[in-house]
Amino acid sequence: MLLRQIFIICIFLLLSACTNSPREQSLYDALGQQEGIANITHQMILNFAQDERVKHRFKGVNMQKFKIGFTNYVCALVQGPCEYQGDSMKTIHAGYNYTNTEFNAIVDDLILAMEQCDVPVATQNRLLAKLAPTYKDIVYH
Ligand code: HEM
Repeated sequence: MLLRQIFIICIFLLLSACTNSPREQSLYDALGQQEGIANITHQMILNFAQDERVKHRFKGVNMQKFKIGFTNYVCALVQGPCEYQGDSMKTIHAGYNYTNTEFNAIVDDLILAMEQCDVPVATQNRLLAKLAPTYKDIVYH
């Protein structure tokens, strides 16, 4: 009987130790919420303008609209309280024959923007992991 009680207490202590362990911060919070994501997007757009690999692709594009759309897209992707109302990645990027190199350039510019906004590498990697599956919808193959 006593043994059984000790066993139950041990299980209880073990479970409460698990519940008390710090939960991983949500990716939305780690990115600085909507304002942080908007700042990263803003910086990424500045980086596009310096990037010979992709800057011509954004000639004539309304970058104010792009900024809002990209921010909402990322915000919704990381389960933030935003609604992305644009078209799918496939529809938006269809017909332009975007290459692997161009996709990598956009990712480079995003990583650089996150560095410039002091986003920790672990958080950067969490966002990149969420974006990686978009590759098949954006790159022409
Ligand atoms: C990680 C990869 C990418 C993501 C997550 C992404 C995401 C997006 C999103 C959310 C929009 C819509 C913005 C809005 O609502 O206006 C957009 C538009 C656009 N994207 Fe991408 N994109 C990616 C890669 C690329 C690549 C590789 C290129 C070409 C080099 C590209 C070129 C464009 C252009 C030109 C637009 C504007 C379309 C227009 O308004 O006419 N994107 N992208």
